[in-house]
Amino acid sequence: ARTAAVIPAAGRGVRLGPGAPKALRALNGTPMLIHAVRAMAASRAVSLVVVVAPPDGAAEVKTLLDAHALPDRTDFVVVPGGDSRQESVKYGLDALPPGIDIVLVHDAARPLVPVDTVDAVIEAVRDGAPAVVPALPLADTVKEVEPAAVAGEVEPVVATPERARLRAVQTPQGFDRETLLRAHETVTDDVTDDASMVEQLGVRVVVVPGHEEAFKVTRPLDLVLAEAVLARRRL
Ligand code: CTP
Ligand code: MG
Repeated sequence: ARTAAVIPAAGRGVRLGPGAPKALRALNGTPMLIHAVRAMAASRAVSLVVVVAPPDGAAEVKTLLDAHALPDRTDFVVVPGGDSRQESVKYGLDALPPGIDIVLVHDAARPLVPVDTVDAVIEAVRDGAPAVVPALPLADTVKEVEPAAVAGEVEPVVATPERARLRAVQTPQGFDRETLLRAHETVTDDVTDDASMVEQLGVRVVVVPGHEEAFKVTRPLDLVLAEAVLARRRL
């Protein structure tokens, strides 16, 4: 089974604040995207990495990949992204050649995922699960609210789901290729991850243990944490 990783990296990173597109921001001197590409290519199972670049940044991303040391056994392709993560992933899937039968989708914004987590996701797909997501139990209690129409207004609590049954989902999410392509062809609702599209097909999705270091770089504090993790690894 040949495995490819699609890395959506086309977002602006609005929540991170002004600056370059998030995936191109440096972590300890190396762009976040390069860390994410290395994290996927670190798995010996991954033979192809498709990077979905900011819409006007494909040439810049190609130059970046050429400028950094990456494993010889892995092929790299760059395509321009779209207006939503979902659209960007679709453009990445469109670039997959024949002969790939397992697809990982991995956020460029999760640059520090350990290779053991990547391999555990691939392994679960190889063992027959059509859709696999890495996830962790929650530290915080979660409340469902009636969202305020105006920011800053109080929000009534609607429900408190039992925390022990909840999981915070990460990437890479792994799929049988045919299942993921069908999900992207069929589901038109806005979603925040790929597995939820597969769920909408009625196909079973399973969770494997995620990793603390697979957190998403979203807000400025996350940059501080990511650089501290890298420093601890001496990268
Ligand atoms: N992404 C993408 N194309 C988009 C939007 C997002 O490829 N049009 C990617 C991001 O580059 C990121 C991943 O999807 O790697 C997860 O999205 P998120 O963390 O929300 O990143 P951004 O959308 O860039 O950040 P923000 O929502 O704060 O603007
Ligand atoms: Mg976003």
